[in-house]
Amino acid sequence: MINVNFETRINEARAEELLGQIKADPMGGWADLPFNFNKKELASIKKAARKINSESEVLVCIGIGGSYLGHRAIIEALQPRGIKIIYAGNSLSRRELDRALAEVEGKDFSVNVISKSGTTLEPSIAFKAFKDKLIEKYGEQEAYQRIYATTDAARGALHDEAVAKGYERFVVPDNIGGRYSVLSAVGLLPLAAAGVDVDALLAGAKEIAETLQRTGNELSKTPIMQYAFMRHDLGERGYDTEVFASFEPATMYFNEWLKQLFGESEGKNKQGIWPASVIYSTDLHSLGQFMQDGRRNLWETIIDFPTDELNAKVVTAVKKAHSVGGIPVLSLEVPSYDERGFGELIYFFEMACAISAKLFGVNPFDQPGVEAYKSELKKLMEV
Ligand code: PA5
Repeated sequence: MINVNFETRINEARAEELLGQIKADPMGGWADLPFNFNKKELASIKKAARKINSESEVLVCIGIGGSYLGHRAIIEALQPRGIKIIYAGNSLSRRELDRALAEVEGKDFSVNVISKSGTTLEPSIAFKAFKDKLIEKYGEQEAYQRIYATTDAARGALHDEAVAKGYERFVVPDNIGGRYSVLSAVGLLPLAAAGVDVDALLAGAKEIAETLQRTGNELSKTPIMQYAFMRHDLGERGYDTEVFASFEPATMYFNEWLKQLFGESEGKNKQGIWPASVIYSTDLHSLGQFMQDGRRNLWETIIDFPTDELNAKVVTAVKKAHSVGGIPVLSLEVPSYDERGFGELIYFFEMACAISAKLFGVNPFDQPGVEAYKSELKKLMEV
């Protein structure tokens, strides 16, 4: 179980109230995923993953933001042994799209296009390019058998196309938003195809989720509540930047997932903590100076995985040096660097983020600010 190295005083009734609000929220469906994942759906996910592995050398995962970062974070961190996964549709760079298209040249491949709305520009453009490539290589009929669409159950352009062309479909439930969707079909299909043990991932998530069922003044003592309230306290005391620090280079995308989760959930109404990240010891040689002695508006949250002896010494040295340098150093000890550990981490941060956003008085589940750039881009494209 994740362990935290700090203790803050929490009003138990407030913790219960916020947890109740999140579970009752129309967008709070993700909170129950580890408890009641639909067995039939899980079986279909695993079956599709086996089919993909049996007929392809590469799976192209097309999606952006919450439809992409969670599964990439776990795949990059665990380097499982299933099919090779490549990513597309997470930028509008033509150079990047051409690079991804070149990666499937001469190889058998399948495509998992993931978009809840089914209308996001980046994945739509990449999907068209890869669909054309599939059709060119296999002809229409086989191409459509190689496309897996994860989208809304009933609406949207991608849903309608998937129904019309007969793509295998997986659902992003109505009550789960993008950045909270990694433990739904959004994440589980690419993860299973990549060779990640999705049962162990869900079991890890369940283990930490069960701690929230504590009662009698115990909920406030759970690591999730401790961390959520602690970060809010720090924010109120003028620490406006949280630096997530990991000592494992392969967790770089996990940091990216964290930044999206917190940034999009909390940064509203001029509120929130700016989420930043570092990988040590690499970044001790670039940002280390600032961490040690720069402006004191930040704190560090160390994601402390079990590691080798030398790396463990670096962890100890960093904790000591940065504390002496005047940075609050929070440490989250993760029990294992595997599916269970990452399952715990995913749920831990999702729930802590939702609670923390509520403490800041903002809605953790919407993202009105993302629309501003979209409408500006739309205007330019209409010219
Ligand atoms: O977390 C979110 O809601 C966003 O990051 C979305 O996941 C992202 O904008 C992609 O949206 P969609 O899945 O509709 O293509």
